[in-house]
Formats: sequence, structure tokens, C-alpha cells
Amino acid sequence: MKIRGSTRVVGVFGWPVGHSCSPQMQNAALAELGLDWVYVAFAVPPAKLAEAVSGVRALGMPGVNVTIPHKQAMVELVDELDESAAVLGAVNTVCCMEDWLIGYNTDGAGLVRSLAEAGEEVAGRRVALFGAGGSARAVAWALAEAGVEALSVINRTPQKAVDVAALVNQATGRQVAEPHPLSDPANRDIVAASDIIVDTTDVGMHPQTEVPPIVPPDWLQPGHVVCDITYNPRDTVLLRAARARGARTVEGLGMLVHQGAIALEMWTGETAPVATMCRALEEALSEQGEPP
Ligand code: ATR
Repeated sequence: MKIRGSTRVVGVFGWPVGHSCSPQMQNAALAELGLDWVYVAFAVPPAKLAEAVSGVRALGMPGVNVTIPHKQAMVELVDELDESAAVLGAVNTVCCMEDWLIGYNTDGAGLVRSLAEAGEEVAGRRVALFGAGGSARAVAWALAEAGVEALSVINRTPQKAVDVAALVNQATGRQVAEPHPLSDPANRDIVAASDIIVDTTDVGMHPQTEVPPIVPPDWLQPGHVVCDITYNPRDTVLLRAARARGARTVEGLGMLVHQGAIALEMWTGETAPVATMCRALEEALSEQGEPP
């Protein structure tokens, strides 16, 4: 990669941000597309986020990604919110069009695209979603938008499942989501009747990888598609249990790649080279010492 007078700069705002693998993933894509662009991680302290956003405008940057802890604060700093960011109250991608900043949230669409890449279209399918945190909200809304037939939101803290289901039903205008406490005995039947099971909880995430999975393995069966959005480790305790039960599995790395691919496509107008991005991400994670 050559930095020239004409090189355009995109990047990610986070705090801290040194662990981000987005630079490796996005620069591999920019290189493959032959674009004279570079993607850089910017460590932006929360108190300086507004100034950093002014910098995007002042420098004429095509856009930035936004990560923890800035996703919510960014909502107030852009000029316009796409429906994804408005509904979720969180921005993970900003596009700058002639000084006008538009905030998007590509997290949930990243999961939907990752499932589609694995040959699993979500429209008309029944989904059991475990967790009701920030990721679950994004995933729930995107699944509903993509036309799932039913969405059961199952969470340890029942009120958070109620809130996510209400958000989805209100935003889509259809009663598609139903909340359930994690302790609900009906969950076994709900899972049995689901086509796709998505785990957005922290269960099985590094460093506590050897714990019982959030979904009891004997609830899983061939015909289920099981997706864990955790990518550290890639092969989680849930995915291993699902495979052992004959279910199909979709790993969380795909969501990370595709949320970035959607951002790249919005900035550049080009089709993202997803396979290259995936390889670069795998390499970056293994350099960080993450289990393969
Ligand atoms: P993220 O932004 O990644 O979604 P989060 O907002 O902290 O992270 O959400 C984490 C989710 O994992 C929550 O739904 C949490 O359940 P609670 O809402 O009850 O806190 C869920 N979670 C984390 N650890 C869990 C555990 N040991 N058992 C069940 N659920 C767990």
C-alpha cells in the first residue's frame, strides 16, 4: 500500500481501539479493490468524540466506523440517521456526503448477510434468539426487517427481552417478536420449533470458553441452523454441541466481516471482496493470539 497525496482516509473511532482488527480487514479489501484509500484506527476519548466528528467533516473523510464506547453518543453527532441507527439508538457506521453525515447501524444486517452467505435466507423462518443486549437488539431488528416469520427473544433478565421484543414489534409494525425468560420451560419447545437459533450472549466467550452452552445440547437437532455471534473463540461450546447433534452451524466471524463489508460498500460504492476480508480477519485474529 502506498500513501500518496491523493490517498483518502477512512477508519474506526473507538476507545480503546488498539485491539481492533478492522484495519487489517478493511485495508485488505481496499487493496484488492485497487483503491487509493487507507483505513486507520483512531483512539478517540469520549470527551473528544464531537471534535473527532468535526474532523471527519473538516478533512472530507468518506466515513468512519464507530465502536465501543461511542455507538450511542454518535447518534447525537450526525446530521441524519438511517432507520437502522434511529431504531437501535446506536451508530456503527458514518457516511460523509459533502459535509452531511449519515449514521447507520450495519451490525444486524451483517448477521443476515452472513446467514445468507451460508445459504440460509431468514425470510419466512422461525428464529430463537438468545440474549437481549446491544448486539441482540441489532440482530433482532434486522431479522424482523428481513422478514422472519417468528422471533422468540430469550434472556436471563426478562425485562430486557420484553424491551427488545417491543422495539422490534413497534419498529416493524407487526407482532413478530415474543419475549421469554431464560428460565421459561416453554423454551425447549420454542427451540424445537425454530429453524434458526442465534446466540448473542457472552456465554462461551473467551476466557470462559468451557462452560455449558446457553442452549442445552439435547434441545438441538439435525435441521437446526445454529449461529453464535461470538468470534473469540470461533468454534464456541454451542457450535461444537450443535455439530455433535447434527445441526448446521454458522460462526460469528461472518457477522463481523459482513458488517464491515456493508460499510465499505456504502463508502466506496464497490462490491466488498468478502473472502479477502475474511482471510485478513482470520490472520489478524491469529496474530493477536486468538484461537483459530
Ligand atoms: P452485547 O453488546 O455484546 O450484546 P451486552 O449488552 O452486555 O453485550 O449483552 C450481553 C447479553 O448476554 C445479555 O443479554 C446478557 O443477559 P442479561 O441481559 O441477563 O445480562 C447475556 N448474558 C451474559 N452472560 C450470561 C450468562 N452467564 N447467562 C445468560 N445470559 C448471559
